[in-house]
Amino acid sequence: MSKKVNFLDLGLQPLANNYLKKNQLNKKEKKYRLKIGLDLKTKLVSINKPIASEIMFNSNYPYRSSMSETMIKSFKDLSKLIKKKFKPKKILEIGSNDGSFIKNFPKKNTIGVEPCSNVEKITKNKGFNTYAKYWNISTAKKILSKNGKVDLIYSANTISHIENLDEVFKSINIILNKNGIIIIEDPSLLECLKKNTYDQFYNEHIYVFSLIGIESILKKYDLEIFNVQNLKIHGGSNRYFIKRKMNKIPINLSVIINRKKEINYGIKNISTYVKFAKRVKSSKKKLRKIFLQLKNKKKDIIGYGVTAKSTTILNYCDIGKKFISYFVDTTKDKQNKYTPGMKIPIYKYPGFIEKNIDYIFLGAWNFKEEIFKKEKKFIKNGGKFIIHTPIPKII
Ligand code: TYD
Repeated sequence: MSKKVNFLDLGLQPLANNYLKKNQLNKKEKKYRLKIGLDLKTKLVSINKPIASEIMFNSNYPYRSSMSETMIKSFKDLSKLIKKKFKPKKILEIGSNDGSFIKNFPKKNTIGVEPCSNVEKITKNKGFNTYAKYWNISTAKKILSKNGKVDLIYSANTISHIENLDEVFKSINIILNKNGIIIIEDPSLLECLKKNTYDQFYNEHIYVFSLIGIESILKKYDLEIFNVQNLKIHGGSNRYFIKRKMNKIPINLSVIINRKKEINYGIKNISTYVKFAKRVKSSKKKLRKIFLQLKNKKKDIIGYGVTAKSTTILNYCDIGKKFISYFVDTTKDKQNKYTPGMKIPIYKYPGFIEKNIDYIFLGAWNFKEEIFKKEKKFIKNGGKFIIHTPIPKII
């Protein structure tokens, strides 16, 4: 029997990606208690009481992976590596979103699975073979009957959104060739703990994975990690290359090094998480202090990049319209709406930052470099950013 111990309580949180329309502002928003725990047996870190996928991932889903140059480049680079190293004839992507990854391959070689039909349609309309389905055994069987087995499965920032990991890998085993490869990429728990990015926890992120946690699931399915890449993406992600145990690909040193790094940091010990929770509480106090001081000085603050992550921060730290006048964002489906819970207006990014703005709260801190490059003028004119990681500060 596995035993889960909660170590962090992020309070009542709305659905992280549920941007509100004007006519929803006066309606009561459903909120969920967000607690985070460690499974003492598997070492998986997850949120309590996950919400049904259908409530979170449906035809209103606003997220588009093509909204950042960083993601587009990362997918392009990985595609080159896949073509060179693994030469797959058939690739399946779980969580293909708007097709930013599969578009790097010939259409006839790819299959996309994406439950949010609004984004799935974008990829389908470009001529790709996509299924508006959740990843589970019945989807795997359906795809198998129509397309046969696949040589490579890729999934970025999706497996951590699925509660039933056993079903994820059982379904993968149905459709993956004997010598097939799985590549999974998700935010790294070690980086989250080190950088105090507690906003990696929100109702869609059911898990924040460590290598050790993933290994505990894989071993049940005769799968193993043979390589790990540490990526800068989303504040520090890991890309795991996985194979069947019988496949003789050698295990790269990176696996041993990463496992050791996690053990040395204390990823298996509850005391590590108790310390993390203390740092999170102190981060909240510091962030609120920064906002209060700036507002006392009558500074104009806006938000930049409204993210599921920022939903956690704003609601946990109780930062609303009093502090942030509005957010700007490039995603059409978020514009002219309001942030979940705190109801801060979101406007279309106008291509520049208004002259009167003194400070920007960086909701999309994970794209800091990309955004700083874009906002050279704001920075040159003395504009400053507020960021919460690794400790809340003005930069
Ligand atoms: P992301 O961090 O990918 O989202 P989440 O926490 O929900 O997984 O979202 C980044 C958001 O920032 C996305 O809505 C697009 C926006 N954005 C801008 O508005 N301008 C930019 O230059 C960049 C890079 C992102």
